[in-house]
Amino acid sequence: MTPEQIKADYIDKIERVGSEKELADLKAAIFGKSGVITELTRSLKDLPNEEKPAAGKKINDLRVEILALCDKKEAELHRAAIERQLNSETLDLSIDKPFRTVGAIHPINQIKKRLTDYFVGNGYIVYDSPEIETDYYNFQALNIPPDHPARDMQDTFFIGDGMLLRSQTSSGQVRLMEKVKPPLKMICPGRVFRADDDSTHSPVFHQMEGLVVDKNVTLCDLKGALEGFAKFIFGGQTRIRFRPSYFPFTEPSVEVDVSCFNCGGEGCRVCKNTGWIEILGAGMVNRKVLANCGIDPDEYQGFAFGLGLDRITMILCEINDIKLLWENDVRFLRAFRGQGGDK
Ligand code: PHE
Repeated sequence: MTPEQIKADYIDKIERVGSEKELADLKAAIFGKSGVITELTRSLKDLPNEEKPAAGKKINDLRVEILALCDKKEAELHRAAIERQLNSETLDLSIDKPFRTVGAIHPINQIKKRLTDYFVGNGYIVYDSPEIETDYYNFQALNIPPDHPARDMQDTFFIGDGMLLRSQTSSGQVRLMEKVKPPLKMICPGRVFRADDDSTHSPVFHQMEGLVVDKNVTLCDLKGALEGFAKFIFGGQTRIRFRPSYFPFTEPSVEVDVSCFNCGGEGCRVCKNTGWIEILGAGMVNRKVLANCGIDPDEYQGFAFGLGLDRITMILCEINDIKLLWENDVRFLRAFRGQGGDK
């Protein structure tokens, strides 16, 4: 074929091409191994030498022209393909993708944090005491000798060699008073252990011990401190009452009830129709305990209290099975997100 024939024939063919595939075939027919332009180039060698430059230039011009046309067509086809795709496909942006969920602070930790904030705001330090204890710190120094009947109240896990899992955070009182001389104000939150397991008792639970030792501390100071705390947790209308009780390490000892935050004292489901909810044990630090820690009981007095964090959490969350606090069912944890100060 002569350059003129190729031009006449192929320019038209390129114009009419309908797909990228057709264009690729056409390019192969022009520039491929036995394509028309390749053939033409090959035929140059048969021409007399003086004609070669002009013929070569002609072929090259043709190649450039056709290549440019092909490029143009290719871009056109590509644009059209994208256009077709955009028109035919739709994106479903409503697809239900799982969202990353936000965690929640465990209700017990929320209560612990709220109480800690309250007491720290009132000048108490936070003291961390060991969970694995000696008999001495858990019992003896707290005026509970080996055969004392009060040991029966706390079914203790003994782990040999005079060691045990602390059954009460009161051990923290002794550890602190041995180290720090009065005046002192501390809370000691933490896990405690007892061989006890039913719907309101778990073998592991949480307490927060409170201890204040100074000169001229009285039972009135204890009452004031606990009233402030009760109003903070259960609301400004809350009243407290002391009932006489017994703990070997406090004298006198009291059990403390708060007026029901739900019914205000009328009697309801939450307070089991009594109008009152028992929340903690407390009392004036026994002289013997002060003396055991090297503090002169004639010079200093103190009060102590022990709160059950799980119990307060159960009351506030209105649940009556302690297991809910341990199962870590995310539906439960989510339901109480932000209830206890996790805001
Ligand atoms: N340790 C006591 C208990 O676990 C509570 C308590 C603490 C009582 C401090 C009086 C003073 O039952």
